[in-house]
Amino acid sequence: MTAHLIDGKAIAAEVREQVRLTVEDRLASGLRAPALATVLIGDEPASQVYVRNKRRACAAAGIRSIDHNLPATTTESELLALIDACNRNEGIDGILVQLPLPGHIDPAKVVSAIHPDKDVDGFHPLTFGLLALRTPRLRPCTSAGVMRMLERIDVDPKGKHCVVLGASNLVGRPLVLELLLSGATVTVCHRFTANLEEHVRQAEILTSAVGQPGLVRGEWIRPGAVVLDIGITRMSDGKLRGDVEFEQARQRASWIAPVPGGVGPMTVAMLLQNTLDAAQSQTKEFPNEAS
Ligand code: GUN
Repeated sequence: MTAHLIDGKAIAAEVREQVRLTVEDRLASGLRAPALATVLIGDEPASQVYVRNKRRACAAAGIRSIDHNLPATTTESELLALIDACNRNEGIDGILVQLPLPGHIDPAKVVSAIHPDKDVDGFHPLTFGLLALRTPRLRPCTSAGVMRMLERIDVDPKGKHCVVLGASNLVGRPLVLELLLSGATVTVCHRFTANLEEHVRQAEILTSAVGQPGLVRGEWIRPGAVVLDIGITRMSDGKLRGDVEFEQARQRASWIAPVPGGVGPMTVAMLLQNTLDAAQSQTKEFPNEAS
């Protein structure tokens, strides 16, 4: 068996085009363009690339990106003041603060300061809690992207044994909640898991977001499994590699998402979708504000 490739680039392009068309409809009906505040702190090259891609994708979809590039010396209270101003600005629908932040800023404080209505990353504790309680509002982008890819290839996780490698706040945990919500049986593996191979061998759907090239041996893949590799590591030769031994896994899986060109492009596409959804939702309440 040679697996079909899950073309994340093409699926992301479909999502982005759908967002663009809906934005066009909004404008035609007299509403303003959705607006996303993007905050980049410091000059970490990878974050600069990610944020540049997000800003370009906004422009291509007709979403207004309001760019804030701040020095690495920005204090936590300066950042919190900027978020507060964005929360109160009715012309802004979504707020994205690129992570990681410089060491002197507490990311949990920053994420919690973003108003849940504008939480297009889906990392706020309330947003996360709503997903855990099966009433999601905005959804974390990468895990939502994985779910969209499964839907697009007509694979329903309901009743299937899904094995999630990596339990990070940004990807693994929200993905576990998404898969649970869809009716899957979910096993989560992390740095303390003993006998990873035994778990991987049982996976009908396998996702890996660890960032360790070659972690998953191709021969461990259950025949016919769907494999979504979310790990992405730049090697010393400049090439990008995922967590799964691709060529060997491809001989056993039924579907496989490659690195690059698999899950990666979906994160940006779902960010655009979330920004549009935030703009479309009419509720903009500020519970702590005296009126
Ligand atoms: N850093 C790595 N991935 C992400 C993401 O999805 N959102 C934000 N804000 N920062 C990130």
